[in-house]
This record gives sequence, C-alpha cells and structure tokens, in this order.
Amino acid sequence: MKIKLYELRPDEQAAFSRAAAALPDGYSIDAVAEPLSAENIDALAGYEAIVITNKSLLTADIVARLQQLGVRYVSSRCVGFNHIDLPAVKAAGIRVCNTTYPPYGVAEFAIMLMLMALRKCKPAIWRMQVNDYSLEGLLGRELRTMTVGVMGTGRIGRAVIDYLGGFGCKILAYDPYPAQDLAAREGVEYVGLDELYRDSDLITVHVPLMDSTRNIIDAGAIAKMKDGVVLINVSRGELVDTDALIDAVESEKVGALAMDVFEDEGGIYHENRMNDIISNRKMAYLRQFPNVLLTNHIAFYTDVDVDSMVEDGIANIPAMVEGRCTTEL
Ligand code: COI
Repeated sequence: MKIKLYELRPDEQAAFSRAAAALPDGYSIDAVAEPLSAENIDALAGYEAIVITNKSLLTADIVARLQQLGVRYVSSRCVGFNHIDLPAVKAAGIRVCNTTYPPYGVAEFAIMLMLMALRKCKPAIWRMQVNDYSLEGLLGRELRTMTVGVMGTGRIGRAVIDYLGGFGCKILAYDPYPAQDLAAREGVEYVGLDELYRDSDLITVHVPLMDSTRNIIDAGAIAKMKDGVVLINVSRGELVDTDALIDAVESEKVGALAMDVFEDEGGIYHENRMNDIISNRKMAYLRQFPNVLLTNHIAFYTDVDVDSMVEDGIANIPAMVEGRCTTEL
C-alpha cells in the first residue's frame, strides 16, 4: 500500500525516517511539504492512504476526489479534527483516525499561560525593554487561592488537572462524559457548565471544536462568569466568540486572557507573515491589550509531541488496515 504524508516539516524528518523504516512489509511512504489541496490532489493517483495534519482541509469536494482516486485511509496526525468533514469521509467509505500524542506538552503550556496571565508577565517584560522597572499595575494573584474551572476532561484536560493538583487550587470540572476516577478525586468536583462559569476565577478550555462546541464561550456564557475572570484557551479559536471576547476585555468583565489559538488563524500562525498586510483585525486588536497574551499555536510543539505525531500518525495506517487503531473517528 502506498502512503503519502502531507505537510512534512524539517523538524519532523527524523521521526518520518524512523516511522517509514518501521512500516510492515507491503507498505511504502513518501512525503511532501505542502498541505493536500485541490491543486495537488491528482498526484495521489495510485495511493491508498494519506497522513495529514490541520492545514490539509478535507472538505466535501476534496473527500469526493479522494474517493474517486481510490484513497481508503486517512490518518490525521493531530488531536483536533475540525479540518475534516467527518460525515463526508464516512459517507465515502474512507476510514479516518486522529492521533493522541502525549498530552503533557499542551498541559504544561496551559499552566504556563495561566501563570503568565496571573503574574502579568506580558506587561512586565514589555516594560523592561524601556527601562520601566516599576511595580504599578503588576500585582499578581496566586493560583493556590483560586478556583479553576477546567472545561473538558479528555486527555489534555485531565493532564491539566493533574498539574493543577500541585498548586492547591480548588478545581471544578465540566465534561458531558465525566470520568469516574476524576470525579472521585479529592480536590476535583464535576459541576454543570453554569456552575463552573459562576464559581471559577480562572477558566481553561480543553474541548474539541465540533458543531456542538463552536462559540461555546459566547456573550451569554461570559455574562455568567465572575467579573474579572481569567480565560485560557489552548484548544481552538473558534470555541470562543471573538467579538464577545473583545467586548468582555474592553468592559473588564474578562480580567486577563491567554490564547494559543485564534479564530481564522490558518495562513497566519506557523507562517512568517512579517512583510505582509494581515487582515485578521480581531487578532491585531486583541493583541494590543496588556492583559491579553496571544501565542502562535505552539502548545503542541515539543520534541516529544512532534515525534509522536509523526510516528503514531504513520503507524496508524497499518493499524487501521489491521483493525487495531484505537483512535478511529
Ligand atoms: C492538535 O494536535 O490538535 C493541534 O492543535 C496541533 C496541530 C494543529 C499541529
């Protein structure tokens, strides 16, 4: 079976070579740097499987062409799957999976954003550049004195909860499918979403982007939160209604915001756009606030996670063929 991997970056090359060498007999793989698109899809003639990540948008049109070309397996080597039209893939009889690389890199990043937001690191670092070493406006808060709401207790939300345990804060959790062991854990309480909004000083979002979760943090949700709430989002920008968020930062309903993701970040994050006119006004506007920290979707970007994405992403093709893939969607 011939496999093509899309979006290969130089930092993935070593893991790619290892995973290619580990493929069972009868499989071969090659790779390109570009995402899969309408422009390059015809080069897939003769391939039965592809490995992609989030820049390869599997729209209904692309899926229809994949089906015509005889592609039967799609392995997406990231956790989020909002770039894939799942109903179209399933209707086409194509098998599809995502990858669950270790959650600790993303969880550590979320904790880092929480601490940076609470300790006002952005204005502190900014000011140092102009020899302003004053304390005014930099008074921080301690996580241990706070109630932290964790939305989504999948692998990443759970790792965040594990790390938060070391800070001594009160932890509220929300998930439509609560985990029994977490529910039984001292210091963690599963609550309804409204209660989490009402009682949390800091809310961190770890839910996947799906139709049912798009804009889950909208004006109505924000209105239910505490005044001065701290919001952290390392999942997907579209989970949040960005206009509502801007209003909430302006009115100081949201006291601090840290996001590693942003609505319509595609074509901006992970690219060098230094000399370009970028048209994402909301991103430029939000970024100017001293209490808003934006990073460029790098929570996943660790040595461990990059290796795992590539190796598991490739190994998942024979795993799907043999019916032993644990992350089929
Ligand atoms: C994911 O794995 O879902 C991520 O967010 C990282 C990916 C976009 C490279």
